[in-house]
Amino acid sequence: RPTTPTSIVIIGASGDLARKKLIPALFHLFCNGFLPERFRVVGFARTPLDDESFRQEVAETLTTRFQPEPGECALAVGHFLKRCHYHQGQYTRADDFRTLGRRIEGLAGPRSGLLLYMAIPPDVFLDTARSIRAAGLADEEERPWSRVVIEKPFGRDTASSSELTRALGKIFSENQTYRIDHYLGKEAIQNLLALRFGNRILEPLWNREHIESVEICFSEDIGTQGRAGYFDRFGIIRDVVQNHLLQALALVAMEQPIRLTPGEIAREKDRVLRATRPMNAASTLVGQYEGYRQEPGVPEDSITETFVRTTLHVDTPRWYGVPFEITAGKALAERKTEILVRFRDLPVAFFPGAATNTLRIRIQPDEEIELQLNNKVPGMNMTVTPVGLNMLYQQEFATALPEAYERLLLDVLRGDRSLFIQQEELAAAWEVVTPYLQERERLLKRPPEYPYGCQAPHIFLRSDETPYPGEEAPE
Ligand code: BG6
Repeated sequence: RPTTPTSIVIIGASGDLARKKLIPALFHLFCNGFLPERFRVVGFARTPLDDESFRQEVAETLTTRFQPEPGECALAVGHFLKRCHYHQGQYTRADDFRTLGRRIEGLAGPRSGLLLYMAIPPDVFLDTARSIRAAGLADEEERPWSRVVIEKPFGRDTASSSELTRALGKIFSENQTYRIDHYLGKEAIQNLLALRFGNRILEPLWNREHIESVEICFSEDIGTQGRAGYFDRFGIIRDVVQNHLLQALALVAMEQPIRLTPGEIAREKDRVLRATRPMNAASTLVGQYEGYRQEPGVPEDSITETFVRTTLHVDTPRWYGVPFEITAGKALAERKTEILVRFRDLPVAFFPGAATNTLRIRIQPDEEIELQLNNKVPGMNMTVTPVGLNMLYQQEFATALPEAYERLLLDVLRGDRSLFIQQEELAAAWEVVTPYLQERERLLKRPPEYPYGCQAPHIFLRSDETPYPGEEAPE
């Protein structure tokens, strides 16, 4: 537990991200004894609040989220609230950040470590960063450390993303910049490294000789949930494919890093992303759920995609010719993210009833790993049936899984950048999606609609696939 006094500043403290994810994550870290002994949480935003009313908001967030029972947890809420403060200001005014700096000095002393979390919309991003710099808050000579966490969107395409990286690079050093992708904070995603490089039995099979295809599927049973204004400017490809799903692909497909250091892991992810052929229209299908254009904040003629299905190819000796099927969609039948590795069938179909071996990695909900093998059906006949050997996190491990944001915030406090996105891999991921996105925007074609709540990935079928009963392929 670090002893350096630490100030955690949430810029955009009255927003959704702060309320839903950051405050609960900090509180949980506090309850589990992970926060430094002397810490302060300072909310910064435009909304006129004072310490008292901010604490009330925090208390509401925590009580709805954790339903604290009387006793220990209620006590913890009280202790946590005492360390929460609020500073009102404009994002673009350096003076407001100067007074914030003085406030922090008063609260935590002149030499506290400083974590600045930018939980703000992309259009005020750069100006805010400049104000922080001008106010001296990013100055590492002045304090033990100063780290800045930034959230996606990191641009809209290759050019705007590299422009943002360049502009931010003039304001903060790469070492103090923590680009968050909360999928990397998820247990089952982190486990990909352990699974692949910590098990003797997988590595010899983990290649084109033995693997037929890899599917990465993200499906949500909700629409844009009040975030339509943001979502409509980005779409599902920018929202989850460019970041979360390409990160998952990189971890599945990368070569073994020579060490488990942030630099070496990022290098291998970058290499594999650079070897990934850009998405193209011929192997991509997009869709938009019915009712999307009627949501507040969505223009009537929006062509934004809420569903995508695409096949990617990773041109490395290990993966050449193996399709990586990526599916992502909102407003589908269920909430599920998983990776399915299909092994090649045996050269001779020896047993009746045998099925393809698969390895299913369920990222959420109900994290699970399941290896499907063929097993003899007990009895007098020699027939086999596929059965799953599975490991459910919930059954196997007594401890509750930490929330992605908890793990990531703790890593920032510890100065560990392993689970954060580095600029080269960010650029490489944009290269994969940009040509297709630009083509779509040039053609201005509205995607076909799909009914809210329908099944994925079968809503759009390629011509070589058979529809599921009751589901028809679009014209
Ligand atoms: C965010 C996207 O990055 O991830 C959201 O902006 C999406 O649109 C969310 O809903 C999904 O995260 P999780 O952790 O709920 O799978």
